[in-house]
Amino acid sequence: KCMWKNICIILMFVVITVGFAQDETTFCEMLGSRELPLMSKEGDVVIGGAFSLHSQISKLLLSWTESPEPLMCSRINLREFRFAQTMVFAIEEINNSSSLLPNVSLGYKIFDSCASTLPTTRSGMGLMNGEGRAFERNCSGQSSVHAVVGTSESSTTIVMLQISGIFHIPVISHFATCACLSNRKEYPAFFRTIPSDYYQSRALAKLVRHFGWTWVGAVRSDNDYGNNGMATFIEAASQEGICVEYSESISRTGSRENVERVVRVIRRGTAAVLVAFLAYDEMDVLLEEALSQNLTGLQWVGSESWITSAHLAKKRYSGILSGSLGFAIRKAKITGLQDFLLRVNPSQEPESNLLKEFWETTFGCSFQSGTPGTKLCSGSESLRVVDNAFTDVSELRISNNVYKAVYAVAHALHSMLKCKDGDGPFENNACADRQKFQPWQILQHIQKIRFRTKEGDEVYFNENGDPAAKYEIINWQPRENGTVSFVKVGVYDASFPAGAQLNFQNTSITWTQRSPQKVPVSVCSEKCRPGTRKVLQKGKPVCCYDCIRCAEGEISNSTDAVSCVRCPHESWSNARRDACVKKEAEFLSFEEIMGILLTSAALLGTSLTAAVALIFYRHRKTALVRANNSELSFLLLFSLTLCFLCSLTFIGRPSDWSCMLRHTAFGITFVLCISCVLGKTMVVLMAFKATLPGRNVMKWFGPVQQRLSVLGFTLVQVIICILWLSISPPFLSKNFKEFKDKIILECSLGSAVGFWAVLGYIGLLALLCFTFAFLARKLPDNFNEAKFITFSMLIFCAVWVAFIPAYVSSPGKFSVAVEIFAILASSFGLLICIFIPKCYVMLLKPEKNTKKNMMGNWAPK
Ligand SMILES: *[C@@H]1O[C@H](CO)[C@@H](O)[C@H](O)[C@H]1NC(C)=O
Ligand SMILES: *[C@@H]1O[C@H](CO)[C@@H](O)[C@H](O)[C@H]1NC(C)=O
Ligand SMILES: *[C@@H]1O[C@H](CO)[C@@H](O)[C@H](O)[C@H]1NC(C)=O
Ligand SMILES: *[C@@H]1O[C@H](CO)[C@@H](O)[C@H](O)[C@H]1NC(C)=O
Ligand SMILES: *[C@@H]1O[C@H](CO)[C@@H](O)[C@H](O)[C@H]1NC(C)=O
Ligand SMILES: *[C@@H]1O[C@H](CO)[C@@H](O)[C@H](O)[C@H]1NC(C)=O
Ligand SMILES: *[C@@H]1O[C@H](CO)[C@@H](O)[C@H](O)[C@H]1NC(C)=O
Ligand SMILES: *[C@@H]1O[C@H](CO)[C@@H](O)[C@H](O)[C@H]1NC(C)=O
Repeated sequence: KCMWKNICIILMFVVITVGFAQDETTFCEMLGSRELPLMSKEGDVVIGGAFSLHSQISKLLLSWTESPEPLMCSRINLREFRFAQTMVFAIEEINNSSSLLPNVSLGYKIFDSCASTLPTTRSGMGLMNGEGRAFERNCSGQSSVHAVVGTSESSTTIVMLQISGIFHIPVISHFATCACLSNRKEYPAFFRTIPSDYYQSRALAKLVRHFGWTWVGAVRSDNDYGNNGMATFIEAASQEGICVEYSESISRTGSRENVERVVRVIRRGTAAVLVAFLAYDEMDVLLEEALSQNLTGLQWVGSESWITSAHLAKKRYSGILSGSLGFAIRKAKITGLQDFLLRVNPSQEPESNLLKEFWETTFGCSFQSGTPGTKLCSGSESLRVVDNAFTDVSELRISNNVYKAVYAVAHALHSMLKCKDGDGPFENNACADRQKFQPWQILQHIQKIRFRTKEGDEVYFNENGDPAAKYEIINWQPRENGTVSFVKVGVYDASFPAGAQLNFQNTSITWTQRSPQKVPVSVCSEKCRPGTRKVLQKGKPVCCYDCIRCAEGEISNSTDAVSCVRCPHESWSNARRDACVKKEAEFLSFEEIMGILLTSAALLGTSLTAAVALIFYRHRKTALVRANNSELSFLLLFSLTLCFLCSLTFIGRPSDWSCMLRHTAFGITFVLCISCVLGKTMVVLMAFKATLPGRNVMKWFGPVQQRLSVLGFTLVQVIICILWLSISPPFLSKNFKEFKDKIILECSLGSAVGFWAVLGYIGLLALLCFTFAFLARKLPDNFNEAKFITFSMLIFCAVWVAFIPAYVSSPGKFSVAVEIFAILASSFGLLICIFIPKCYVMLLKPEKNTKKNMMGNWAPK
């Protein structure tokens, strides 16, 4: 193909040099046969046209032994014929107009590009060349046309531009969308009335993204249109985060095996959305194969070249394509065009083979008599009863582009011809020579035009020759009667800021045949819900990933999060890992079972102590109470009450104040308690030791001394506590280390020395007490207090010795519970051992509670 292109270009050079050169010989002759336009009309100004009027080209047989056959094009393309007629219509309309180009008659020359590059080269040369044969007279040196409208494909447009570009003849395409044509360096004379695929590919990517399809298949035409369009799409898609599962190309002229293979690839693919950047002909080939392989259920997203093809919709493919979405050029109405088209008749131009061919194809008749199997054409058949691609003016999109292209040329010519000398755009403000203007001068004017068509479409070209990129979003909606209607569901305008370009109207969209109501889902991996993060799968595109649950203490609160974030210091992830919640504060509360039990034990102890105190008070006159140093007993009962109550300060939400309170209250009440016991022990000890030598030792340890000693012992503890509180008091601390999801509220000791000093002092007193009581345990006594004190001190010490390891090793609130337990146990120990036996006697054995009984036993042996 490439070789042929090159040969043609060389050929063309020869023709042009021979044809245009004003050489001294005054001869110029055309090389090869002359290329004649299929439709033409003379005029002051002639506009060229090139359309793919035929869609099939004869295969070249190269024998190299005889001159190659001329190229033969066959199979008339009715849609393209409509484009050509639209061009004629527009030219006539301008010709008739009194405001646009008055007194200038317009002519046209329309060639066939046959949808292939080689015939396009010939058409290009036909358009450039002036008079065919110049014998013994100088060539005019001017191109036969002043501007060219065409062609219908990007590839053929490029070929056309390679020829016309040399002479700067403007080419305005109505249908060549390749983004490559926007390159002003390479194609300085190119304009178009259709937006570049640069915009369409991007718009397609945005459309696909809009519906959340991140996993799509792609198929394209293997030509400039498809390859460039798809390349831009893939680039734009990857920017939008869309992955392309496969990208295949097919060619109308390629092998059938390739098409079969492509359809198999599509069938095997998992993407539910197929982006088809295909020209109409390739689409036809692809669908034929898709039908035979039962390819259904795909959501097609199409490029403008086929998305409004009524032809495809009418064929059997409508089931496959039902629900297709795509971009189309805006639909327009051209008043008068339908009448004009219906008036087309071979009699208008009896010489024209094209019109005859059109007529024969349309009515299935023949103008040549004697063709077997076909009737003779009369020429009076009516186009009104025909419904084909030529007469169908319901979807005027590309036709409107042809119409606008012709008007653009006319407006440029108009502004050039009405130019006043001294006010022109050229050097010295000159105007173009009206009789013999140059093609590049028109170029200058085309670049500058800006006008509105009768329907209100604004036409202008940017610096690359591109028009404003506006598309309609088209949806294929099947109707009950079996037809398909192309419903406009939205618009795309590239001139809007990003994000606002795609606009959907309030119209319902029909999706694929399988589930017309539901938006299809096409993803490689489901979205990762909040609480998880994406982990890419090895060797797969970025759209394929696994969702991994966030680790403990980390969250992700958006879908498709790339990573999880750590929760702030004092909070923790919830179970769903999608939000940080404040860490639960853990402390021994009044509400929980352990707290309730301990509280009730403390209250029980308090009431028991109160009851004992009451009993003692009731029996204060009895011998037992009196003998037992009632003052110290009541003080002991009081301090025991405080001991029970101080355990309550350990329960509940800790604060700085309760932290300070709990240890000091505990320390002081316990010292008070122990010193009372100590006082009692000493009294017992003194009393008996004193009886032996002199009986008046009681003087040394009378009530005053007792009170003072209790006060003194307690004061020491108070001083220790004051020192502790003032130097480094206990404070509330939050422990984050023990549990990951909880904060332990605990009282920090502030100073361990302080704590152990308080505890040690209690221990010291207890030890002292125990020693004295131990010494006094053997003393005769019917009611030997010392025995009970010894016993109670044993319990006391045992509890506190056991407390230390338990306290150190218990986590969180349990250490507090252990401490409370120790307080309660030791308090109960004291209460029960010292007071319960006495109560027993007072209440149940009152006969023993007499002075005599006491004294009797007391008397030394
Ligand atoms: C344009 O008008 C002139 C006369 O006004 C006529 O001769 C010529 O055929 C017309 N051209 C077309 C294309 O209609
Ligand atoms: C132009 O004018 C001629 C006669 O004046 C008329 O027959 C023809 O239909 C007109 N063409 C258009 C496109 O208006
Ligand atoms: C067109 O031609 C007519 C007659 O030749 C003339 O009267 C008229 O002024 C011309 N119009 C323009 C705009 O040149
Ligand atoms: C051809 O051009 C040459 C010079 O450019 C001129 O002398 C000659 O008269 C021309 N011949 C004709 C037939 O116009
Ligand atoms: C397509 O479906 C038809 C009937 O539904 C079946 O006969 C044919 O074999 C299928 N073709 C393929 C390629 O699966
Ligand atoms: C089918 O129905 C649509 C409206 O639903 C209508 O516009 C169209 O003309 C109908 N076509 C045929 C062939 O009946
Ligand atoms: C969209 O259409 C539906 C029904 O067709 C209607 O209820 C709703 O109000 C419309 N919304 C807007 C914004 O027009
Ligand atoms: C997600 O979390 C971030 C930081 O944790 C926060 O700023 C943002 O508001 C959260 N977004 C939602 C939707 O909750």
